[in-house]
Amino acid sequence: MQQLAGLEMITEASRYFAGQVDDPLEATERAHAVLHTLCDMLEQIADSLPRDISKRTCASLGGDMLPLLRDIHQFEEDSLYPLAIQRLGATPQVHSTIRRLQYEHCEDECFAEELSDALRELGGDDAPKNPEATGYMLRGFFEALRRHIAFERDHLLSVVFDTDPDGLKRL
Ligand SMILES: [Fe+2]
Repeated sequence: MQQLAGLEMITEASRYFAGQVDDPLEATERAHAVLHTLCDMLEQIADSLPRDISKRTCASLGGDMLPLLRDIHQFEEDSLYPLAIQRLGATPQVHSTIRRLQYEHCEDECFAEELSDALRELGGDDAPKNPEATGYMLRGFFEALRRHIAFERDHLLSVVFDTDPDGLKRL
């Protein structure tokens, strides 16, 4: 996806998740699609460091990424995970899986906060101080986020929404 289209998708998703979300399946599909796009954009930045990055994209993601991530996590914790507990049963194993996913949300938000500063630095006028460390940080973040999304799709979505895993949108 082109960076401009990706930024527009992020802006649109930010508006959607800041408001009232009515359809949990649609919201989950949108959440995963936009996070998947975010991961691709961050990977592109990591691959383009230090000189071939788009400063505009970096500055924009530096401002928009964390609020969007927080809103999506809020939606999942308020809507998706309670639905998962309802469908899968409130067993210790299910609770432990949900706790693990919530912990990953927390970790990702902490990581995203640090990453936002680094992205804002990349989007600024000065040359980045340590592009290698920023690239390493970017890769750690999007790889963990991709694993988290894949787990939610493989283990929660088909059960929560009674959907054949092959019927879910391909990301
Ligand atoms: Fe999640």
